[in-house]
Amino acid sequence: MTQASLVRRITDFASRADPYPLYEELRRTPVLHEEEGGPYVISSYYDIEGLLHDPRISSDAANLAAAGDDGTAQAESAGLPPSFLRLDPPEHDRLRRIAGSAFGPPHRPRRVENLRGEMASVVTGLIDGFGDARRIDLVDRFAYPFPVTVICRLLGVPREDEPRFRSWVDPLVATLDPGTRRSADAAFVRTAQEARTQLGMYLAGLVEQRTREPQDDLLSDLVHSQGPDGPMTMMEVLSTAVLLLIAGHETTVNLITNGMLTLLRHPDVLQRLREDPGLSVRIVEELLRYEPPVQIVPQRTCLTDVEVRGVTIPKGARLWLVLAAGNRDPERFTDPGRFDPDREDLQHLGFGSGVHSCFGAPLARLETQLALSELARRLVDPRLVEDPPPYRANAVLRGPRRLDLAFTGLR
Ligand code: HEM
Repeated sequence: MTQASLVRRITDFASRADPYPLYEELRRTPVLHEEEGGPYVISSYYDIEGLLHDPRISSDAANLAAAGDDGTAQAESAGLPPSFLRLDPPEHDRLRRIAGSAFGPPHRPRRVENLRGEMASVVTGLIDGFGDARRIDLVDRFAYPFPVTVICRLLGVPREDEPRFRSWVDPLVATLDPGTRRSADAAFVRTAQEARTQLGMYLAGLVEQRTREPQDDLLSDLVHSQGPDGPMTMMEVLSTAVLLLIAGHETTVNLITNGMLTLLRHPDVLQRLREDPGLSVRIVEELLRYEPPVQIVPQRTCLTDVEVRGVTIPKGARLWLVLAAGNRDPERFTDPGRFDPDREDLQHLGFGSGVHSCFGAPLARLETQLALSELARRLVDPRLVEDPPPYRANAVLRGPRRLDLAFTGLR
């Protein structure tokens, strides 16, 4: 196998169930550039961490489009301005600060924590809903509906509208995947652009309501934001709401599903969690290292020439930061291929790092801790029906498409 095919083998669907041997191969060339105009692929922990903090590295959608990225940049600047995920400082920082003041300290210190009780009853309701079934698809019955319900509640989006916005979210998420993105396929990009515009229009209706009648939700706080950074414009509110709605559920679904899969492959840890729900804190951190839902950050460009390990990455070049490869880098972690929630050092790149590090991390952590500890406690004798399970196509947001579990009862 020639090295020139490594990136393609990673994005190829055939490697989705276990990309880790390919990441190991990738780390042998820490700065891999396979073809003219293609991305520079970075796979070691310390290099990724450094680049995520480097002001010479841009997330700006306009730079990405100029660097020849086909799907993401075009789809994510359609109809609405780019969200703060696709902006550099200082614009990024202003919008993130305003959104942050609606999401946590110092203005809304208990916004996430206050949802704990509500989240726990959603979890209980979903597990009770398994009823007399002794075999379920965990994705369909639990891992998808739970974070969707929570982000809808947090934002103030009616839960019953989920089938509508799902049809817009799916094509947008597909553009994040370099494996399925087709530069020549204008129809693919146009579908995603239309989806973003439709989602923006749908949210505009809700924003208009909140402008007249504020509620206790994030949309209302974004609309009525005041403070040193000034208010967000209507368009900024909409692109922030689109970002939060998508980021707020697509990733957490995969963390919960990857989590249950990993626990069923490590029954000793599952048993310990059953006896001690507090262990869920360590388990979730180790999962973010061992099976991170965001495997690759493929949307970065260099604002100037940047040298990494003696290789000069030229100004304007695209970078792929392979978080999942960095998370198993033996230069950084002892025995990196072992799932070990007892590690002294539970660091990871699962939420990224630097100015764009995950905004929703406190929420995602709490949701997954609650989900896994309750599933462990309540499912009697759970077993995987199929291992490995079938995976979603996406190489960037990686996770099982379905996870069939059999169990003998509910506690
Ligand atoms: C397990 C679940 C999650 C994972 C693994 C995850 C992972 C990530 C990663 C890796 C990034 C960095 C992207 C980059 O550097 O380009 C990120 C950014 C972000 N995440 Fe999450 N995320 C999760 C859940 C959430 C949730 C629940 C929300 C919203 C409530 C959220 C909102 C965001 C936002 C808004 C950003 C952009 C931050 C910025 O550009 O400053 N995420 N996330």
